[in-house]
Amino acid sequence: MIDLRSDTITRPTPDMLDAMMKAEVGDDVFGEDKTVNEFQDKIAGMFGMEAGLFVPSGTMSNQLGVNVLTNPGDEILIDEKGHIFNYETGAASALSGVQVRTLQGRHGKLNVPLLEHTKRGHFDWEPRTRVICLENSTNKGGGVCYSREELSEIKAFADQENLHIHLDGARIWNAITATEVEAGYFGKIADTISVCFSKGLGAPVGSMLLSSKSRIAKARRFRKMWGGGMRQVGLLAAAADYAVENNWDKLRDDHKRAKEVAQVIFDSKFLAVDLNSLQTNILLFDTVNEPAEKVIGKLNEKGIKMIPFGPQTIRATFHFEISDDDVTEVKEALAEIGKS
Ligand SMILES: Cc1ncc(COP(=O)(O)O)c(C=O)c1O
Repeated sequence: MIDLRSDTITRPTPDMLDAMMKAEVGDDVFGEDKTVNEFQDKIAGMFGMEAGLFVPSGTMSNQLGVNVLTNPGDEILIDEKGHIFNYETGAASALSGVQVRTLQGRHGKLNVPLLEHTKRGHFDWEPRTRVICLENSTNKGGGVCYSREELSEIKAFADQENLHIHLDGARIWNAITATEVEAGYFGKIADTISVCFSKGLGAPVGSMLLSSKSRIAKARRFRKMWGGGMRQVGLLAAAADYAVENNWDKLRDDHKRAKEVAQVIFDSKFLAVDLNSLQTNILLFDTVNEPAEKVIGKLNEKGIKMIPFGPQTIRATFHFEISDDDVTEVKEALAEIGKS
């Protein structure tokens, strides 16, 4: 099967497993795991942040980010396609007691005109708007990235309005590859950043929250409260470190392969794609006459897996287990489906 459902399906490679086996570990609840301590410092430094906290999932690191920036009753702003709003089981309200207010951006991205006049909290009876949540690249938005200019405009607005910024950078690696905005710049824009090692980079488990030392100290306490305190976690940190060092470069190929497949869709009669919004490894396309499920069924019969992302929308996500030969097969299958 050629599995394009998600970039999370990759399995650890022999070299990654080898790096895990060699990791020097200790009990991280006591703060004694050398591998995770060094890895946290390394990634924090890379993004220009004071400290990092390794956590099991992107959901936990997003939720910790929201938690350390808010108080119960506060309001957070997010694009209506945002992961925190759509796919995290309502955790922001359950765990941090905040209200999530969605805005209708474009491809999952917010902008200043949209954010203007949204801040509330002047009167006693209003929620206090506290955080702007950005996602880069956007998942439900189709892998679209913020430009440096867009980020700096939002940061200037947030400073003016005294709002914090949380950045869901589950696929920040793809965004950096596509836009060449350097990692350190994101530390200047955001108060908290969540990065994942288990998406395109291919680690089996692991995300990290990045922020100031004091916020990370607070997040560490909540990670424990939420059951995320881990013991010899250096095993996982070693896999994540291996992923950053060895797999980041491969994302360029994923992006190229997504574009190649998109071109076939663009040329087909019964499938449609917006080539201008394809920037990274997430390819969203539409079925013209048939429900997405039906087209996915036809692809399954040809040994290809994709997932529905709406009644007539399909997502294909590229990752390092997809080879050039696989891409040729996918292109042939889509060309055939797109004809009739
Ligand atoms: C943009 C984005 N943020 C956060 C997450 C959550 O990550 P996890 O599945 O590790 O909780 C995902 C997962 O796919 C994601 O796409």
